[in-house]
Amino acid sequence: MIESIINRVSCGRLEAPAPSEEHLELMFKAALRAPDHKGLKPWEYIVFEGEEALNRFGDYMLQASLKDNPELDEAAQEKLKKKPHRAPMVVVAVAKANNHPKVPHIEEVLSTGAGVQNLILGAYDLGYGAYWRTGSLAFNDHMKAPLGLDYEDTIVGFIYLGTPSVELKTKPIPEVENFVRKG
Ligand SMILES: Cc1cc2nc3c(=O)[nH]c(=O)nc-3n(C[C@H](O)[C@H](O)[C@H](O)COP(=O)(O)O)c2cc1C
Repeated sequence: MIESIINRVSCGRLEAPAPSEEHLELMFKAALRAPDHKGLKPWEYIVFEGEEALNRFGDYMLQASLKDNPELDEAAQEKLKKKPHRAPMVVVAVAKANNHPKVPHIEEVLSTGAGVQNLILGAYDLGYGAYWRTGSLAFNDHMKAPLGLDYEDTIVGFIYLGTPSVELKTKPIPEVENFVRKG
């Protein structure tokens, strides 16, 4: 397992098939084992799969962008609508805000980030490709209402999932000593 963690790479070039139902279930089981202060389970994963769902998600992106900038030209609008189609499946990872007196929201965000890492490690381990994206749209509050989120919730990422259409890169492993020191 440690080898899979060390060797994981992202893949942005993705095609069908998306993770199967059975594999997706396993990946989410892994995501739902993220460390979790006070057991709040502050996670929500919203799955967009297939043409119709990805079109709808692209429309959320377009409408949210237009609210910020109503002057967007036609080319920019088309580009936004197509964004989700870079993969056969996009999962929106959300940290819900529970407003617990002992758990600041940053911890809910961190926990969801750990969940996303488990999800993409699971994808890699099962032979799928994954790419964690944010970009300005993850921080655009106009994305929240169409996604059914509360204003205080945080979008932690848009996770693009599918089958790699190119060979996976190999990445050099950073030197441990450059990042770790004795205290
Ligand atoms: C929170 C977060 C947000 C990210 N957002 C983007 C993004 O919007 N666009 C992008 O190209 N890469 C983004 N990345 C980086 C990629 O997911 C990926 O980790 C990076 O390209 C390095 O590739 P590797 O995972 O194979 O080392 C983000 C990573 C994290 C952790």
